[in-house]
Amino acid sequence: MSLLYVPEGTPTKQALDSSEQAKSIFALEHGKIVYLPEESLSLHTEEAFLFSPQIKAGKAKNISYSPHAGKIKHTALTGVELNSLTLLLQRYADYASSLIANLFPLYVPHLTRGRTSFRPIEIAGRIPASYKKDDTRVHVDAFPASPTQGQRILRVFCNINPDKRPRVWEVGESFEQVATQFLPKVASYSSFQAQMLKIFKLTHSYRTAYDHYMLGLHDAMKKDVGYQTSVKKKQFDFPAGSTWIVYTDQVSHAALKGQHLLEQTFYLPPQIMLHAAQTPLYVLEKLLGRHLLVS
Ligand code: SIN
Ligand code: FE
Repeated sequence: MSLLYVPEGTPTKQALDSSEQAKSIFALEHGKIVYLPEESLSLHTEEAFLFSPQIKAGKAKNISYSPHAGKIKHTALTGVELNSLTLLLQRYADYASSLIANLFPLYVPHLTRGRTSFRPIEIAGRIPASYKKDDTRVHVDAFPASPTQGQRILRVFCNINPDKRPRVWEVGESFEQVATQFLPKVASYSSFQAQMLKIFKLTHSYRTAYDHYMLGLHDAMKKDVGYQTSVKKKQFDFPAGSTWIVYTDQVSHAALKGQHLLEQTFYLPPQIMLHAAQTPLYVLEKLLGRHLLVS
């Protein structure tokens, strides 16, 4: 079974026809990567400063832009260049939003725009601060400080590498296979602990049982070196000048190589999924035999 779905049409320009929309949403919600081999954000010649090693500041992996705060973090740029970088990230956020609107118009009324990031660091050879931060190990996404409280994590990636180097990913097993293996290794949820995390500002909002188990899966998968070497994975090289869209909370993925990537995060309520039985929430509730969004 292929891990990619290439929709027919030109979603950068116009909405797909309705049967192609249905096929694309089916593929996406069933854990495929919706892949646009020929689509990319076009850059202006004066945006070459993006590829300068001096662009990043501090230890963070990514430069990120928060649409709510209107602020960029982790860049050393100032003045005119900072302004250009902000405009570029806003342009990418608009590009990603219009792709979603043309591919999955049903999502639009429910979509929350999260952060936009630029990832200027070569992944291969990077020394992660800890195994939990090591994205070369297959994992499903979950954020320790930013619970999604059940919302799906939908991400749009675009490889803009100027030397035509691919972004090399591996994709592992289905979410249900991952959850079946790793849930028994995750400690039980404690709402008391979740309250403490919030009171001491270790989480931006309340960590629900759903967030706890998702984070538990993320950490347990990355920690298990035997699993990392033995699990069946498929490699895919996303060429420079391509775009792909994926539910990273569902699809087990790792990034092995590559540099210069744009990424836009969106959040969506699980209740609006067309194929609800595929959602991490549904699968976890089924395996644990309880609701995970009530405290
Ligand atoms: C990840 O989400 O784990 C990393 C994806 C990437 O940077 O290519
Ligand atoms: Fe990830």
